[in-house]
Order: sequence, then structure tokens, then C-alpha cells
Amino acid sequence: MKLFLDTASTKEIRSMWEIGILDGVTTNPTLVAKEGRRFEEVLLEICALGVPSVSAEVVATDVEGMLREGRHLRALHPSIYVKVPMTPAGLRATKILAGEGTRVNMTLVFSATQALLAAKVGAAYVSPFIGRLDDQSEVGMDLIRDIVTIYANYGFSTEVLVASVRHPVHVLEAAKLGAHIATMPYAVMEKLAQHPLTTIGLARFLQDWEKVPKG
Ligand code: E4P
Repeated sequence: MKLFLDTASTKEIRSMWEIGILDGVTTNPTLVAKEGRRFEEVLLEICALGVPSVSAEVVATDVEGMLREGRHLRALHPSIYVKVPMTPAGLRATKILAGEGTRVNMTLVFSATQALLAAKVGAAYVSPFIGRLDDQSEVGMDLIRDIVTIYANYGFSTEVLVASVRHPVHVLEAAKLGAHIATMPYAVMEKLAQHPLTTIGLARFLQDWEKVPKG
């Protein structure tokens, strides 16, 4: 399973990249706005680290605008995946961009039928937002189960990128369902490695080691 950071903070990305557990990065207009820096400058800095998959979102809502922005983003660096929203214009733009060899991440996906269409137009990734579904009393993980089943039924190569992840159990459940990727905030990725018994166990080992005769 690939683990992505959902951030535009190069400090956070560098920290996880150096540990060696990071497979990619997703950004969106909200995350980029938080950084207060130029979009392209941030993207190129992330790509320069060597991160192999960096999703950058178009903000146009019409097909021509999406194509213009998508082609521009793709030309910036080979690691860029172009994020396109799940709308009729987004489906049309994805079909064209994918046909040109651009890897598209279809975003803002909230139903299995939307995910079916994303696969049919050749998206490389589909991004169902599970946290936002949970927030309004729908079980986001049920959507992941449906998409994984549908894609397996028909042998689609589109990868399921679980987005809007809020806590480690989302990552655990997504992994058990066989989702290809989970993208998460830095704080969630940090928690994946933590367990209080590990901390207590290490402290005790170090304490006991002091009692071993040295020299
Ligand atoms: C990533 O591709 C999505 O834009 C992101 O996971 C959305 O997360 P949020 O629902 O926490 O804003």
C-alpha cells in the first residue's frame, strides 16, 4: 500500500521523505493557500526531493481551461499528476488528458458510480473523500469497499486513493480493503508509527541496560 502525505508543506514532506516511508504527495487549493507561497514554486520544490507522485489540482471549471492548466502542470515535472474535479467537464478533460499520456487524479469523488466513470475515462487515480462523508453521517469506508469491488470486477487499472483521511483507523481499514493508496495529514502519518507500549518498552530496556556490567 502506498502512503501519501496530504499537504503542501515542504517541511512536513521533507521530514517523512527522509525517513523513507513516503510514496507521494497530494495537494489541493486549500492546502496550497495555507502555505502562502507560489503554487509552482512549492510543486517544484516537492518534486526536486524525488517524490515520485505529486498531485496538483486545476482550478478551471470548463474543459478548455482544465486542459490548458492540466497541460501546463504536467509539463512542469514528470512526477506531477493532474487533479481534476469529478464533473461532466472534468470527465471530458480527463479523457483527453489521459489520451495524451497525462496521469489524472479525479478528485471530489463521493459515490461509487462517480468512481466507475473516473475509471472509464482513464483516470490514473480516483480520490474518494471518506472523512467528509463520515462528517455528514455516511460511512466513508463503505464507499472504498464498493469501489475496490467494482474495479476488481472489471479489471480497471485506476488506483483507489483514499482521501480526506482523519485518523489511523481510516488507514488501517483502507489497507484491509486493499485500497492502493491512502493520503493523510502529517499528524496521522506520525501516529501510524506510535504505540505507548513501544515507548514504555524502550525506556525499560535502556534503564535495565544501565545495570549490565560494562568494560
Ligand atoms: C486530497 O487529495 C484531498 O484534497 C484531501 O484529502 C481532502 O481532505 P479534507 O477533507 O480533510 O479537506
